[in-house]
Amino acid sequence: MMNAPATPTEVEARIAKAPRVEGGPTAVPPGAVDTPFPADSFRPAATSGPAEADGTSMPTRDAELVRRSLAEIEPIADRVTSYFYALLFLRRPELRDMFPPAMDTQRDRLLAALLAAAGHLDDAPALTAYLTALGKGHRKYGTRADQYPAVGEALTGALARYATASWDAETEAAWARAYATISRIMIDAAAEDERTAPAWWQAEVVSHDLRTPDVAVITLRPDRPYPFLAGQYTTLETPWWPRTWRPYSFASAPRPDGLLSLHVKAVPAGWVSQALVHRARPGDVLRLGPPTGAMTVDHAADSALLCLGGGTGIAPIKALVEDIAEHGNRRPVDVFYGARHGHDLYEMDALARLQKTFPRLSVHPVTGERGRLPEAVRSAGPWQERDAYLSGPLGMVRRGVDVLRGAGVAAERIRHDFPTEPALAQPGQLRSGACMARTPSMLPSR
Ligand SMILES: Cc1cc2nc3c(=O)[nH]c(=O)nc-3n(C[C@H](O)[C@H](O)[C@H](O)COP(=O)(O)OP(=O)(O)OC[C@H]3O[C@@H](n4cnc5c(N)ncnc54)[C@H](O)[C@@H]3O)c2cc1C
Ligand code: HEM
Repeated sequence: MMNAPATPTEVEARIAKAPRVEGGPTAVPPGAVDTPFPADSFRPAATSGPAEADGTSMPTRDAELVRRSLAEIEPIADRVTSYFYALLFLRRPELRDMFPPAMDTQRDRLLAALLAAAGHLDDAPALTAYLTALGKGHRKYGTRADQYPAVGEALTGALARYATASWDAETEAAWARAYATISRIMIDAAAEDERTAPAWWQAEVVSHDLRTPDVAVITLRPDRPYPFLAGQYTTLETPWWPRTWRPYSFASAPRPDGLLSLHVKAVPAGWVSQALVHRARPGDVLRLGPPTGAMTVDHAADSALLCLGGGTGIAPIKALVEDIAEHGNRRPVDVFYGARHGHDLYEMDALARLQKTFPRLSVHPVTGERGRLPEAVRSAGPWQERDAYLSGPLGMVRRGVDVLRGAGVAAERIRHDFPTEPALAQPGQLRSGACMARTPSMLPSR
């Protein structure tokens, strides 16, 4: 039997009194706080709801109510995030072990995705594509369908606490429907994926080549075939930091021998990148999540390509060029390859070799301070008729997108896997596989 619900303020007061634990937002004895909202409200919809794959969108009124509360919490997203996780782990302490030991830099992703998805309820195709990739990706965390209601309750508990001006029974009901829709799409996608793909792959390091003092090219042999498209990325977990997953792009098109290669730059104090560059050795075994990402090439198109790769951002660009060359495509490709110093342009030789087999490739090395790469591209235009691909530090990608838009390249021709807006993206910005959630680990690190 359920106890009388505690108000959000009561919940927070109890959380504030509770002892803090290392790595988690707050620890409170199990059962210390009642559930303010009945769990049944957040059960996944029985069948895919408003934003279904058939293109039916969430009723506009619900979307409007959801957006109103989103707008209210946007300036205080950090506090909402802390409260969300505190509620989640308070009520379901056993879920804490699924998350990384240190959640300080990463924790906003789950909530930010929920909020971004809820803000796109009336954009069914984009929402479905995004949540399908997310649901599949959650299999590697061991997420189960019966855990979704707890996340929904924590979400609504946090919204009720912080969206005070817009929160009422109608808004709460709209959020319950929204969450049911979101979770149903993710759960269905995971179940469908389970029929054909593993939750993760194990991959053995077969070679480790230090190309600069802080960039390693790592070659992996997956334990079973790993299907992906050139330009995509994976997420990986190392044995040294369990449950800490980071995205890395594939540095070549799919190879006949099935091996995978990654370029990793060790960032200062970076948990995963330092381990991959300075600790990993042949024989070590990593775990890989499923491939994802929107930087793929449509081989039916014939427009010329413009690619910007900064630092290890050259990895997926090289994969794309290989893919185009292998398809016998005759599209011209211009690659602008940027780094601070000439010796950091560690893939120049590989690109020169590619040029021999694919003469329609032009490579433009750019060195110098931040901002040089987009500026070099701007001055070398015109680019209006190009399909553009960008990969590298977040700042470079953002500036690059601005430059390309300013040069007349249509938004739908520009592809990258970073958000150009912070956490709550604008409607229409959700793309399959693109991570919409703001995360410090996406900050300049390549
Ligand atoms: C789609 C996608 C594809 C990616 N592909 C690649 C790839 O192919 N190769 C690659 O090397 N990386 C790639 N990254 C970045 C990668 O996922 C990690 O973010 C990066 O390796 C840092 O992770 P970490 O665990 O080492 O650092 P974290 O432990 O996440 O960060 C440690 C601290 O360092 C800060 N920090 C991060 N970068 C820097 C920096 N450059 N300078 C100073 N402080 C910093 C963080 O904010 C944090 O405070 C990609 C990211 C995305 C989103
Ligand atoms: C509709 C519901 C949910 C949404 C929108 C969502 C969204 C996200 C996002 C965007 C991330 C960031 C990494 C990634 O893209 O995979 C993430 C990570 C994660 N999610 Fe979810 N999630 C949801 C439900 C759940 C549930 C029910 C669980 C199980 C308890 C869960 C467990 C996790 C874990 C363990 C991580 C890894 C955290 C990290 O790496 O810091 N999620 N989630």
